[in-house]
Amino acid sequence: MTSAERAAALFAEEHGSAASAVWSAPGRVNLIGEHTDYNDGYVLPFALPHRTAVAVRPRTDGLLSTATFGSDRRLHRSPEIAISELHPGSPTGWAAYPAGVAWALREGGFPIGGADLMIVGEVPTGAGLSSSHALECATALALLDTAGAAPGQPGAPSLGEIARLVQRAENDFAGAPTGLLDQTASLACTEAHALFFDVRTGQGEQIPFDSLGAGLEVLVVDTRVKHSHSESGYGERRRGCERAAELLGRKALRDVTAAELPTVLPELPEELRPLVRHVVTENDRVLATVDQLRAGRYAEIGPLLNASHASLRDDYRISSPELDLAVDTALAAGALGSRMIGGGFGGSAIALVPADDRPAVEQAVLDAFARADLTAPRLFTAVPSAGAGRDR
Ligand code: GLA
Repeated sequence: MTSAERAAALFAEEHGSAASAVWSAPGRVNLIGEHTDYNDGYVLPFALPHRTAVAVRPRTDGLLSTATFGSDRRLHRSPEIAISELHPGSPTGWAAYPAGVAWALREGGFPIGGADLMIVGEVPTGAGLSSSHALECATALALLDTAGAAPGQPGAPSLGEIARLVQRAENDFAGAPTGLLDQTASLACTEAHALFFDVRTGQGEQIPFDSLGAGLEVLVVDTRVKHSHSESGYGERRRGCERAAELLGRKALRDVTAAELPTVLPELPEELRPLVRHVVTENDRVLATVDQLRAGRYAEIGPLLNASHASLRDDYRISSPELDLAVDTALAAGALGSRMIGGGFGGSAIALVPADDRPAVEQAVLDAFARADLTAPRLFTAVPSAGAGRDR
């Protein structure tokens, strides 16, 4: 049963009749371009096959009711809330995500008259695979549908506008200072492609990335570890980048080129230099990766993934022992390239692996984690899949 089918069935069971629509949105893997989004730079994500579905029916009393089928396979109901009374800080916890989206849509001028939502998620949580954005994007589309403003309907905002509304929910309601990577990936990716997205211009280009067709697999290693300082660490890095741009008199670090680094870095306080070096070189690595993919040379992106990991580990300093173990082990066992992905301080790594070598790489990673006495990681092959859409 897909998450959309389950959401529809649970909705009918809970409310006694059918939902008016079901929308779903995927989690993502970012192939390369990490911590570049809030620096106005480039990213290259693709969508996971794992999706979060939201079955919806409009209400006329202004209330939002939310129930979710959790990974514990039980239904969790949140108290009904008046959309007109939503404000940042209330509710908190998990319910802040759907409520934050309703708030952002209200603030954005979309007349959401109330809705019943049934949420079923299959994106692994806490794994750096954007389960929260899958939830927020599917919720945004479902709620827009109740206002006649979902994609394909006359009053629909563009995907870029929806991504910004979801970002607002995440930044101003849930209080996470994240960029535009995750919601853009969830909304706009297409099957067998990676999305080359320029955050400054808002322009996206679908780059063919049929990894399986090329005999390669992108293996995801979810370390199942998230270190407690991940949120503070993210915010500190972001503020450091913004401060560096300001000191250099640039709008964003996007405006610094690699050729300028030798002259620009000495102008900065020592602690900001590695941050700038990471962002500037990472943007170049995205462009180089796109060039290789356009030429169909998928295997050639391996060294770029490795360089990205080294930069995130040594300059941006957001890797973890578990991520490094996953990356080093995968490479030693035959991966063509490997790196941590997402916000950092835990979560997942990816390894680009020839399909024939995948079982050996998987086993090597499992063995290495067992030898280090760590929880067994969750491993799966990520096939570039479709972005958000209406299921029924
Ligand atoms: C998290 C954030 C994104 C992005 C990545 C790092 O996933 O939500 O906006 O900054 O980290 O690339």
